[in-house]
Amino acid sequence: MENIFERQMLKNTVFLDKDIISPHHIPKNLPYREKQINDLTQGLSAVVNNSKPNNIFIYGKTGTGKTSTVRHVVEQLDEFVTKKELPVYNCYVNCRSHPSKYKVMLKALRSLYPENDFLGYSASFVYEKLLEFSSIKKAHIVLVLDELDKVKDVDDLMYSISRGNDEIKSGSLTVIGISNNLTFKEKLDPRTKSSLCEREMVFDPYNANELKEILKERVEKAFKQNCVEDNAISLASAIAAQESGDARTAVMLLQRAGEIADKTETFKVTDELVEKAKISVEEEIILSMISTLPEQQQLVLYAIAQLSLQSPHFTKVSGETEKGVLFSGEIFEAYLKLAKKFNERTITSRWYRQYITELEMYGLILVTNSGKGIKGQTRLIKLGFDAEKIKAALEKELFKNFTN
Ligand SMILES: Nc1ncnc2c1ncn2[C@@H]1O[C@H](COP(=O)(O)OP(=O)(O)O)[C@@H](O)[C@H]1O
Ligand SMILES: [Mg+2]
Repeated sequence: MENIFERQMLKNTVFLDKDIISPHHIPKNLPYREKQINDLTQGLSAVVNNSKPNNIFIYGKTGTGKTSTVRHVVEQLDEFVTKKELPVYNCYVNCRSHPSKYKVMLKALRSLYPENDFLGYSASFVYEKLLEFSSIKKAHIVLVLDELDKVKDVDDLMYSISRGNDEIKSGSLTVIGISNNLTFKEKLDPRTKSSLCEREMVFDPYNANELKEILKERVEKAFKQNCVEDNAISLASAIAAQESGDARTAVMLLQRAGEIADKTETFKVTDELVEKAKISVEEEIILSMISTLPEQQQLVLYAIAQLSLQSPHFTKVSGETEKGVLFSGEIFEAYLKLAKKFNERTITSRWYRQYITELEMYGLILVTNSGKGIKGQTRLIKLGFDAEKIKAALEKELFKNFTN
């Protein structure tokens, strides 16, 4: 009998190298990011000349190429210093998986001493060991802290790193901080802000034409010839440009459309398939957006999801009823209760209003004004997506954060 894996391998597919159309792939060539690559290279070139670089803070919406660009430049740096035998080391930390000062430092130390896991060592030991590494080797350490907004005690972390950098005589400890959160900087302690943002770079969203060029390059390497119609590339770019200018959405749309083409054995990626892929990609993106929100904002959204599920029908002045419509005030109260349960500090009502505005901007909720009559003038809030799904996604995030 024929082996089932052999049969699987013989199956027809539109993909040449599926990894290349995955959002985790880092392409060698990054169109429309030449300026950012140059600036970053220039900023980091101090380490090659044995001097201390400035810290760099990079921000911009999801899918604007921040992670890919920084990893590309750091890889190039690594290649260069290895060849020249210079004492320059880099550590990449995704703070989403290492969301505290201690965890970030531990992860950095482990990448400098790969043979030791330093399990159970104290925070001060880990910190001293990091500085010692730099002193002994007269090393320049470049610490890439991706999704830095995820670090709970980020002010503490930045303070320790700056102090460490000042202490190091020959060598340096530099941070490249990255954040998808456009308002993160505003929440930092002024001292942290000035040390982290010595140099700043913004990554703007891509427009439809730029996305199309980016996709074309990826398609050529990821798909077999003539398997992807031009219409499909145009539509994927248009959808992604309209939503957010996000290259990740664009790439995922084609990846998913390709999977549908294989599954339905049409072996042709068309605009219709991109349209089909849109629904599942949107869902995945919403869930991943939720995971990048700050904890307190996740709690606010959690309160909205919970209340939406419990809420009775809301009756308008006209007598019509609508489901899932909530008063801004009741959400704030539910949030306060939740925060207490999670043993969290609570945000003020001013921050609460700011968070609601942001959630609306991300499309996660819809906000309207009640007009006069209902409890004076109040904001009415409704969840933009399925409450069950949002609640489940938040539970996963919140329980992870709070057990850390
Ligand atoms: N200029 C670009 N050229 C090619 N691919 C890109 C470009 N910018 C982003 N991408 C792709 O889009 C996806 C998301 O990029 P990423 O660097 O993770 O964005 P961010 O970190 O800003 O969220 C990845 O698959 C990446 O390869
Ligand atoms: Mg990123």
